[in-house]
Amino acid sequence: MTQNVTLIATAAMGIETFVAREVKALGYEDIQVENGRVVFQAPVSAIPRTNLWLRTADRVKLLVGKFNAYSFDELFEQTKALPWEQFITEEGEFPVIGKSVKSKLYSVPDCQSIVKKAIVERLKKKYGVASILKETGAFYRVEVAIHKDEVLLTIDTSGSGLHKRGYRVGQGEAPLKETLSAALVQTTNWRPDEPFVDPFCGSGTIAIEAALIGQNIAPGFNREFASEDWDFIDSSHWDNAFQEAEDHANYDQPLDITGSDISHQMIEIAQNNAMEAGLGDLIQWKQMQVKDFQPRKDNGYIVSNPPYGERMGDKEEVEEMYRDLGVIMRDDPSWSVYILTSNENFESLYGKKATKKRKLFNGFIKTDYYQYFGKHIK
Ligand SMILES: C[S@@+](CC[C@H](N)C(=O)[O-])C[C@H]1O[C@@H](n2cnc3c(N)ncnc32)[C@H](O)[C@@H]1O
Repeated sequence: MTQNVTLIATAAMGIETFVAREVKALGYEDIQVENGRVVFQAPVSAIPRTNLWLRTADRVKLLVGKFNAYSFDELFEQTKALPWEQFITEEGEFPVIGKSVKSKLYSVPDCQSIVKKAIVERLKKKYGVASILKETGAFYRVEVAIHKDEVLLTIDTSGSGLHKRGYRVGQGEAPLKETLSAALVQTTNWRPDEPFVDPFCGSGTIAIEAALIGQNIAPGFNREFASEDWDFIDSSHWDNAFQEAEDHANYDQPLDITGSDISHQMIEIAQNNAMEAGLGDLIQWKQMQVKDFQPRKDNGYIVSNPPYGERMGDKEEVEEMYRDLGVIMRDDPSWSVYILTSNENFESLYGKKATKKRKLFNGFIKTDYYQYFGKHIK
C-alpha cells in the first residue's frame, strides 16, 4: 500500500502531549491532539515505527472510517461502505469489540454484531466467497467506538498494550505503568551521563525506562505486534524498522542509574526485570531506606513514585519519608527532584514549594507530579 493511512496513538489522560511530541520526533507532522489520543496521517511504514518507538502511547490503531450514525441501519450501511478489503485478507480473523458513550446507539453488543455483519458482507462480496469466511488467518481486532453519535472504526495494530515491553517478569503491589514511567523521565532535562536515582524503585520500572531512554533503545524491541502478520504492510517495513532501532541504539552510552528500595524482595525483582530488558548490570540496585540516601555527585536527578500513604496506618510513615527526603535534598541544590504522589501535603512535608506541578493520572488515582529544578553546577 502506498497511500497514507490515518493512525491513532491512544494515551492515558494527561500524557497526550508526550505522545504527540514522540510522534513528531519520528517525523510525522500532520498531528491532532485530542482527549486520550493523538491522530496523525502517515505512510504505512509508520505502523512498525510507531509501535516500536512510542514510549508513552498505549496502542496504535488504524482508522478505517469515521461517521455519524443514529440508527442501526446507518451504522450497517456506512460500515459496509468502507474499504475493509484493503486491510483484512480473505482468511483474516476479525473479532469486533466496542464501546458507546452518550450516543443514541448505546447497546454495545448490538453495535458489535452489526459492524461484524457489515464487514463480513463487504469482504464476502469483494473476495467472491459464497459460504462463510474461514477466519483462520492473521488477527485484526476491530473496534467500534461511539461517542456522541460519532462512530470511529479502527483496527488495533499493537496486539497487547504498548506498556508491555516484555521485560516486566515480576512486579510489586503498586507498579507504575511503563508508559507513565517513560513520561516521568521525559519530563526532566536529565542527560544520560548524569546521575539518576529512584529511591523507591519497587520493580524498577522508572530506572529501566530511564536506561532505555538513555541508550536510545526502542521500547518495543523485545516484543511482537499484531500487525507483524498483516499482508498490506510489506515485510520490508518491519525489517527496516527493526534495523533502524538496532542502528539507533547506543549501547556504549555510559549510564549512572541507581534504583533502591527498602525491600530486598523488590530489589531482586527489579534486578530480574532489568536483566530481561537486556540491560544486564547497567543499573545499580541497592536495598536501602530512603532516609539513608546520600547524593554522591552533583547535578543528579531523582525521579520517583513513592508510597502515597492512602492506606490506613501508612500515613504517618509516608509523611516521615517525604520529610526525610526533603531534609536530605535541602543540602544538594544541584539535584533536580521529581515526585509523583497523590498526597496533597507533599510540598509542606518535603519543606519546599515545587518549581512546577503537573496533574497526572496513575491508573484511576489522581496525582500531582512535583518538580523541583536543581541549580546545575558547572
Ligand atoms: C509505589 S511503590 C513503587 C513502584 C515502582 N515505581 C514500580 O514501578 O514498581 C513504592 C515502593 O517504595 C518502597 N518503600 C516503602 N517505604 C520505603 C522507604 N522507607 N525507603 C525506601 N523505599 C520504601 C516500597 O517497598 C515500594 O516498592
